[in-house]
Amino acid sequence: KFNLTGRDFLELDDYSTEEIQYLIDLAIEIKAKQKRGEAYQPLKGKTIGLIFEKSSTRTRVSFEVGMYQLGGHALFLSKNDIQLGRGETIADTAGVMSRYLDGIMIRTFGHDKVVDLARYSTVPVINGLSDLAHPCQVLADYQTIYEHKGTLKGLKLAYIGDGNNMAHSLMIGGAKLGVHVSVAGPEGYEPDPQVVASARDIAQATGAVIEVLRDPREAVKDADVIYTDVWASMGFEEEQKAREAAFASYQVDEELAAYAKPDYLFMHCLPAHRGEEVSEGVIDGEHSIIFDQAENRLHAQKALMAALMG
Ligand code: CP
Ligand code: NVA
Repeated sequence: KFNLTGRDFLELDDYSTEEIQYLIDLAIEIKAKQKRGEAYQPLKGKTIGLIFEKSSTRTRVSFEVGMYQLGGHALFLSKNDIQLGRGETIADTAGVMSRYLDGIMIRTFGHDKVVDLARYSTVPVINGLSDLAHPCQVLADYQTIYEHKGTLKGLKLAYIGDGNNMAHSLMIGGAKLGVHVSVAGPEGYEPDPQVVASARDIAQATGAVIEVLRDPREAVKDADVIYTDVWASMGFEEEQKAREAAFASYQVDEELAAYAKPDYLFMHCLPAHRGEEVSEGVIDGEHSIIFDQAENRLHAQKALMAALMG
């Protein structure tokens, strides 16, 4: 029904609501097959390169394991080991890699690098996190919410904290899927206004409400999902102290969570800092679904690779 072969995956706004729902459904189907012990190997003989200019636990392991389970092979390409780290251009890297590989995943800083890599590659490029967006995480996250709640349209997700890559992709994905997204954070750390405008534009078709607020209680009020992320993302480590001060009143703790619906879900892309953006009680409590999210990175990315590279 949906042929996504050869497409890049740089941010969810490149995909229609139906295509995103299709990827979620495919992920759920592939997950069920794996739980039944049934092999699903549409990528036999295919290879993906995983370029990492930043650290990773989940993304690296889920892509490597996922590609193996699909019958293919994944190469871990750390910036310390490839010539890109010594100044070889993105265009040359893309041209060369396209002759060896069937797909490329990149985790880097500036989003323009992801876009450039896609421009010069003749194979699909997947964004494994940039400073602007983290669409692989959000694909798995909406799959996880869908599995827990049985629906997406009309739910409310409150994102508390830094207006970063996670906030951006959750807003774009929410707008596409009809999930209301309320972001709350301190002054100076709001999400990119262009992303907010784009999410609101997309939301017109689905009825999703995209809010950017100051008061975390207002954002969390009657939420079905509370989401948070680190205060200092990769690349912003030297701002840690200043950010701890700015975000001090934005910790997701039991008192804040009390404003949400009684059956709310707590989510975090991980890695987390207990006692900073979230209290131990909330992240390790009965509402937390952090390991379901992490697991679904595997299933969602298998669906993505199968769809793009199959
Ligand atoms: N959530 C996530 O992308 O984790 P890693 O940085 O460990 O890949
Ligand atoms: N916002 C975080 C997400 C990590 C998965 C970062 O970019 O470091």
